Amino acid sequence: MDLPEIKYTQLFINNEFVDAASKKTFATINPCTEEVIALVAEGDRADIDLAVQAARRAFKIGSPWRTMDASKRGKLMLSLAQLMTRDKEYLAQLDTLDNGKPYQEALGDIEQSIDVIQYFAGWADKIHGDTIPADGNVMTITKKEPVGVVGQIIPWNYPVAMLAWKWGPALAAGCTLVLKPADATPLSALYMGQLSREAGFPPGVINIVNGFGATAGAAIAEHMNIDKVAFTGSTQVGRIIMQAAARTNLKRVSLELGGKSPLVIFDDVDLDEAVNIAYNAIFTNHGQNCCAGSRTFVQDGIYDEFVKKAAELAKKRVVGDPWTDVDQGPQVNKVQFDRILGFINQGKEQGAKLVAGGQRVGDLGYFVQPTVFAEVTDEMVIAKEEIFGPVQSILRFSTMEEVIKRANDTQYGLAAGVLTRDIKKALEFSHSIEAGSVWINCYDHTLAQTPFGGFKQSGHGRELGPEGVKEYIETKTITMALNQKNS
Ligand code: NAI
Ligand code: MG
Repeated sequence: MDLPEIKYTQLFINNEFVDAASKKTFATINPCTEEVIALVAEGDRADIDLAVQAARRAFKIGSPWRTMDASKRGKLMLSLAQLMTRDKEYLAQLDTLDNGKPYQEALGDIEQSIDVIQYFAGWADKIHGDTIPADGNVMTITKKEPVGVVGQIIPWNYPVAMLAWKWGPALAAGCTLVLKPADATPLSALYMGQLSREAGFPPGVINIVNGFGATAGAAIAEHMNIDKVAFTGSTQVGRIIMQAAARTNLKRVSLELGGKSPLVIFDDVDLDEAVNIAYNAIFTNHGQNCCAGSRTFVQDGIYDEFVKKAAELAKKRVVGDPWTDVDQGPQVNKVQFDRILGFINQGKEQGAKLVAGGQRVGDLGYFVQPTVFAEVTDEMVIAKEEIFGPVQSILRFSTMEEVIKRANDTQYGLAAGVLTRDIKKALEFSHSIEAGSVWINCYDHTLAQTPFGGFKQSGHGRELGPEGVKEYIETKTITMALNQKNS
């Protein structure tokens, strides 16, 4: 496949492509070849300011966006989804080029992103309040209003999909937005800007400012004229964002952060099927998945057999050029690549048993062998920290009581899975686990309709589903006196 032509590299503000105020650019790198793909405008505080001003104008009472019928908002979103469908191959090519994920997987991401925009388009004219029988001779209604101008900061692991998760509910609710994509994957978002303009969104509703976290990202989190910030990324940066919001204008904060999600496998399962589910739970998207099943707990009766089969399966995984028919391309960038190899070394040093992989692949690009560690114990670094790479850690357990305690013994609480034929065990586990999503006999079945988000330090708020919309609305309570004295 020919590499896609890069059409847009500037910032997208008020429906125009513009240079950064500083005229600075930064390079986005091809993770297969370590070569520069393109130079992209590097936004900073001044550009975030311009984008916020545009978003604020677009949000003004009386503006085209604020006076538009809610159903029309939904139709604009459907037009965007249609344009994404028209250009889905191109969008997927941009993500493969920039992120390194296999093209077929990138295409799957775009199709899911289209579903998300369509799902939220349906919400646009179905967001409404209540009438409340308040005491007194009054009538009270609640009106659901958009939160306002929202800042959205997204990661690089699913570039278009993370954008869709953020844009969908914000646009359905009637907010205007300033998006900062991840600096590792700036390209597909800009093309989404072009598609939003073509769909007919008024100027200022959607603004996209590429740049680095510590500059452009921080400018969003600290901005006095942004009403809400929605963030997906590391727990460490989530903490910085919440502090910035607290220090400045108390903007609303929603956070979708990291995880160390347990997948618990009881010994009554079909072994091959369980090995396969656990394999996909960790290796999907090269392990660069916030809800990756990164702690595989296996009951002792099947432990040895499970490890043998898991290692065999990982060794069969084809790693290579993401434009060809492979299972896994490179990790996204050098920082992540080095970080993952560092974790693998710690696993070896701390005495985990390496049964597959453990090295880089080749000597060019950020390719890592699918790696499996057995005999992993709870205090090892690889059992505690989010690796965000193709590294499976298999832990041994004996009883339900023990595994629930160990599975919950983490700062995180994003997701969990349980594999068993016994419905009582599955329900007991689901009831006791501290996690925002629990999958029984499947893993990461996350769709437009299913709320997704973290317990504990995996975040605040929910994306997708009905809960996703709530994150972008304020409730206004209006009470009317009835039968006034001199009426
Ligand atoms: P990160 O949390 O630094 O980056 C995510 C986004 O936040 C990017 O757009 C980045 O530019 C922005 N950002 C960074 N610093 C910021 C700041 N001070 N203020 C505002 N925005 C800021 O994640 P990074 O460095 O790409 O990856 C580090 C680790 O984070 C990964 O190894 C993984 O463990 C975790 N991670 C989790 C993700 C998830 O889906 N929950 C996604 C990406 C990373
Ligand atoms: Mg890149």
